[in-house]
Amino acid sequence: MTRSPIIVALDYPDHASAIGMARRLSPELCRVKVGKELFTAAGPSLLEQLAGLGYEVFLDLKFHDIPNTVAGAVRAAANLGVWMVNVHASGGERMMAAARDSLTGLSSRPLLIAVTVLTSMAAADLAQVGVGLDPKLQVVRLARLSRDAGMDGVVCSAHECQMLRAELGDDFVLVTPGIRPADASTDDQRRVLTPAEAMASGSNYLVIGRPITRSDEPAAALAAIITQLRL
Ligand code: C5P
Repeated sequence: MTRSPIIVALDYPDHASAIGMARRLSPELCRVKVGKELFTAAGPSLLEQLAGLGYEVFLDLKFHDIPNTVAGAVRAAANLGVWMVNVHASGGERMMAAARDSLTGLSSRPLLIAVTVLTSMAAADLAQVGVGLDPKLQVVRLARLSRDAGMDGVVCSAHECQMLRAELGDDFVLVTPGIRPADASTDDQRRVLTPAEAMASGSNYLVIGRPITRSDEPAAALAAIITQLRL
């Protein structure tokens, strides 16, 4: 198991591209994230192959359904041997608790993480779906609910880490996307922090995609980030 906090987002449409990138990187220096597009296209055999290369996998499928269905999905993910899996906190406390209970008794279980408010949702979008709270307050509310339901942590913006760390204590895992090395393009991310800034604000794991995967030299880009973090 690597000590690196970096999770490389394998945002690819097919098995071959994802494995191609995984082969260029190293499981000693990062973990990898498989999201909805890639998993829907490539399926569980991709996870087996990534494990065969030595990678720990964050299966980012953001489950959100009735408690029984989400519990079954999380258990199925655990049976695939993933290292981290996530659900939507807005599915509610009973849904999250059922997900957590579904992992009871496993000799090794994945970290179970909740998504609070999608960063694509601004105040106006939340209002449209009936949430009148300021997005930041909604993030705190859902993060507390996640902890109370037995989640190991949440996905959040690095800008929210200090606030959530203060609210939820040192043991709660904070997973942060929206990270850009100082010299990288921001792509479509709006409010970015550097890897060192995110770690200093209390993040445990940094999800980084394009600055590594679209680099001409992905392994060098990854190594440069590790060096910046002085790991
Ligand atoms: O390429 P980039 O570093 O922007 O990739 C970030 C990854 O994190 C993508 O897989 C994206 O879907 C995910 N993500 C995000 N913002 C969130 C939640 C997830 O960028 N709030």
